[in-house]
Amino acid sequence: MALKRKDILGLRDMTQEEIVKILDTAETMKHILKQNNKKTRHLQGKSIVNLFYENSTRTRLSFELASKYMSASSANISASSSSVAKGESLIDTCRTIERMGADVIVIRHPMSGAAHIAARHVNTSIINAGDGMNEHPTQALLDLFTIRETKDTIEGLKVAIIGDIYHSRVARSNIWGLSKMGAKVAVAGPSTLLPIELDKTGTKVYQSVEEAVDGADVVMLLRLQKERQQKGLLPSLREYSQIYGLNMERLKLAKKDVLLLHPGPINRGVEITSDVADGIHSQIQEQVTNGVAVRMALLYLITRQRGQHDASLY
Ligand code: CP
Repeated sequence: MALKRKDILGLRDMTQEEIVKILDTAETMKHILKQNNKKTRHLQGKSIVNLFYENSTRTRLSFELASKYMSASSANISASSSSVAKGESLIDTCRTIERMGADVIVIRHPMSGAAHIAARHVNTSIINAGDGMNEHPTQALLDLFTIRETKDTIEGLKVAIIGDIYHSRVARSNIWGLSKMGAKVAVAGPSTLLPIELDKTGTKVYQSVEEAVDGADVVMLLRLQKERQQKGLLPSLREYSQIYGLNMERLKLAKKDVLLLHPGPINRGVEITSDVADGIHSQIQEQVTNGVAVRMALLYLITRQRGQHDASLY
């Protein structure tokens, strides 16, 4: 089954069948990544453009490496060094990239819904690499992949997501993805950073980290997004860390074989202590590797549905 869609915009509108297809394909891609020679011909002749209006290390580099490993041409544009800085609109920029022959545009933008707008105005496939506070679907897919790889299944697991849920596109995509895959999602954070619409998703909301982490199979920390905070939503960073930060004592409330995830970048000593981030339960570094595999799978599947492949994966 190919993905029967032009774009990857979020997990809210994705089916369980599509998610499983992506995770299965990423498994094959991870085998390729482990080989001495990682080069394949699956995207030969295709071009991928990374259009980033916000900073990124993991997402942008993993898309670029994924493109290169599969023999696509890839290019990066950042807002500060392009005609975006002269006032060119997102739509005009995407149309310009499309007319240069791009098969896929990977977009990160500070405005929620930016990837959806771009997708409506170009025939080129759009992959959402994070839009404002809305969704970060490729991050959630790599998180789901890491959970399935470690625990063999996602269904029935208690997954605690801790921190600044309100500003987090990672949390939103994960809540959609985890619930579609049958996980029981619990969240905890300051009440000013918990969105009210959470009640509608079946997510359990806790005021205390201890309650959310209690008996959890997976604990997912979120980065405290200092750049998106308005005044008054937070106590001081020191208090935030004391009340909501994950330390070893709190992690011990989870199951003995708990899996610890964090999308990165980490604010060490704020949302997570270093001994937890670097400890035996942490798969934070493996998430980074899995990010490349998942993005290889997405690029493969999204271009495949357009009938653009010469090389078969299997
Ligand atoms: N997790 C994540 O999106 O990291 P970057 O901001 O470095 O891409």
